[in-house]
Amino acid sequence: MASNVSELTTYKAYLQGEWKKSSSDETIAIQSPYLRKAIGYVQAVTQDEVDEAIKAAHKAQKSWAELSLSERGAYLDKWADELVNNSEDIATAIMQEVGKGFKDAKKEVVRTADLIRYTVQEALHMHGESLRGEGFPGGDQKKIGIVERAPLGVVLAISPFNYPVNLAASKVAPALMAGNGVIFKPATQGSISGIKMIQALDKTGLPKGVLSLTTGRGSVIGDYLVEHKGIDMISFTGGSGTGRHLSKQTAMIPLVLELGGKDPALVAEDADMDVAVKSIMNGAFSYSGQRCTAIKRVLVNEKVADELVDRLKSEIEKLTVGSPEEDSTIVPLIDDKSADFVQSLIDDALNKKATLVTGNKRQDNLIYPTLLDHVTEDMDVAWIEPFGPVLPIIRVKSDEEAIELANRSEFGLQASVFSQDIDRALDVARQVEAGTVQINGRTERGPDHFPFLGVKASGMGVQGIHHSILSMSRERVTVLNLK
Ligand code: NAP
Ligand code: G3H
Repeated sequence: MASNVSELTTYKAYLQGEWKKSSSDETIAIQSPYLRKAIGYVQAVTQDEVDEAIKAAHKAQKSWAELSLSERGAYLDKWADELVNNSEDIATAIMQEVGKGFKDAKKEVVRTADLIRYTVQEALHMHGESLRGEGFPGGDQKKIGIVERAPLGVVLAISPFNYPVNLAASKVAPALMAGNGVIFKPATQGSISGIKMIQALDKTGLPKGVLSLTTGRGSVIGDYLVEHKGIDMISFTGGSGTGRHLSKQTAMIPLVLELGGKDPALVAEDADMDVAVKSIMNGAFSYSGQRCTAIKRVLVNEKVADELVDRLKSEIEKLTVGSPEEDSTIVPLIDDKSADFVQSLIDDALNKKATLVTGNKRQDNLIYPTLLDHVTEDMDVAWIEPFGPVLPIIRVKSDEEAIELANRSEFGLQASVFSQDIDRALDVARQVEAGTVQINGRTERGPDHFPFLGVKASGMGVQGIHHSILSMSRERVTVLNLK
């Protein structure tokens, strides 16, 4: 597929239902990670514009929340249709802006449409409850409690670069279905894709003001948004450092954080090696490892370590490396700084005598898939999230040692356990401190209606369609005191 980025567009921000230039008169150039040039400009929204957007969201939210669930759902279903209708254009934006392979970018758009439709259905099927009570012991007052869900007000949705459409819609859709207004702050690298996603939402005739899209550097408007008194809930996905910063900036505001990971694959000596190799390859290297749920270290029983390393080496050497336009698995990382960071982890491990099995080659921000064996606890790559295509192998003597190393990490997003003995796999899985443990499969977020959460530095609160709606609404209890 040929890229045509010769005419650069300056995208407007979506404020109070209008596409506007910012009064700052400033724009931010979006650099494509693989074209290595600007592909467009987005607005640097001002703090005053943030104030206006939040004020408008509060006003519009009141009538939005009064619509029936099916009326709100009709807007969202149309949004899903628009996304599918424009999937080529949106996928092209994702590809050019964050360097994701075109096929995967298209899958992201279609997955997002499915997620939105499921969110509508889930909201329609979530029931309140009624309770009977008779007051405290000895009391004779008969009571009926009616428990419904009410919106929180205005939700701030902050998304990361690596799923600029899916991880944005997975916040926006439940927030809207729960009856909230939304302020959406996309990752700067990801803003054009986010804008195209909101253009699709705008086409549904969404009432003005219900949602505004504020583009701008997190370091410039991020804190202002997060600390704003008009924000009633924050749903954030991004790095653990940023998440930790947000949790210090906010007070008395519900906060859901989906953060980084260092997901281990624990491979026992009785693992089905075909399954383990396939899952580890896919888990570690798709989109160059730029997934929070990527497999980021392998803890393998020493009895099968040689076999696993040999098989991984041969699969890694077959991986396609190059351009997202050719759907290569290994693509340039989001920017040079990220590539420098991955390189520093490889260099540190090699300086400390890790074995280079394959890789450690680089052109600008394109890092070739790298397999490091005999990684030890003193190496940074054993503990730090690279967000790039480097996989450390740590050899262990027992399940206990693997579990201990898995749990010593500051992260706890997901883990994979490979064993053909289901009792053993379950036993290990239950001892690993992670939001989700996959048995005989790769670490991954979906299906999107499953609860998705990280423990320790990997997050706070739960996402997944049902839980996102819950976290963006509250119980409203009305008590009938009967005669
Ligand atoms: P990031 O640098 O933490 O940025 C995430 C978002 O936070 C962006 O929209 C960013 O805006 C914004 N931001 C930055 N500083 C802010 C501030 N002070 N206040 C408010 N917002 C601020 O993460 P990333 O590089 O986009 O994504 C990679 C990281 O996200 C990895 O660690 C990965 O593991 C994690 N991640 C986790 C999950 C999960 O579900 N657990 C999913 C995807 C990614 P700017 O872009 O404008 O700086
Ligand atoms: O990057 C973080 C995403 O939540 C990962 O989603 O497992 O579907 O690739 P995924």
